[in-house]
Amino acid sequence: VQETLVLVKPDGVARNLSGEILRRIEQKGYSLVDAKLVQADRSLLAEHYAEHQGKPFFEPLVEFMESGPILVLRIAGERVIEGFRSLAGTTDPTTAAPGTIRGDFGRDWGTKVQQNLVHGSDSPESADRELALWFS
Ligand code: GTP
Ligand code: MG
Repeated sequence: VQETLVLVKPDGVARNLSGEILRRIEQKGYSLVDAKLVQADRSLLAEHYAEHQGKPFFEPLVEFMESGPILVLRIAGERVIEGFRSLAGTTDPTTAAPGTIRGDFGRDWGTKVQQNLVHGSDSPESADRELALWFS
């Protein structure tokens, strides 16, 4: 069965939304395989976001992700990669559909980066890479 990496980003942990986010994952029927709270350092984040290096939002993104603890989750289920992306909603929290995590709890805070509460791997290749990185 498929596995994916989910991160509750520093805004989600700070706003006490970890339980609500995990509840939605479990309500959907996905299983929790492993979990830990991590203060990520710059080198881990630079590797995690390697595809975004050089983009204008890269630096603010890394600073945001370093700003507090992250809840790191290994989640399993049939088509969980797509399924969690669907639960999360689209990247921009202002326009993410209501009913999704980002749509229900996210909004624009006027910062230089989207504080959009969660991350989910976007493909089987990303999931393999990111699970190895965060659970090495
Ligand atoms: P993740 O699950 O976090 O990877 O989100 P995503 O897959 O929906 O978005 P993507 O991988 O394209 O970007 C990673 C993160 O960078 C996003 O979640 C945002 O926090 C931030 N980001 C992406 N695109 C933009 C952008 O155009 N502007 C700003 N300010 N931030 C962005
Ligand atoms: Mg992404």
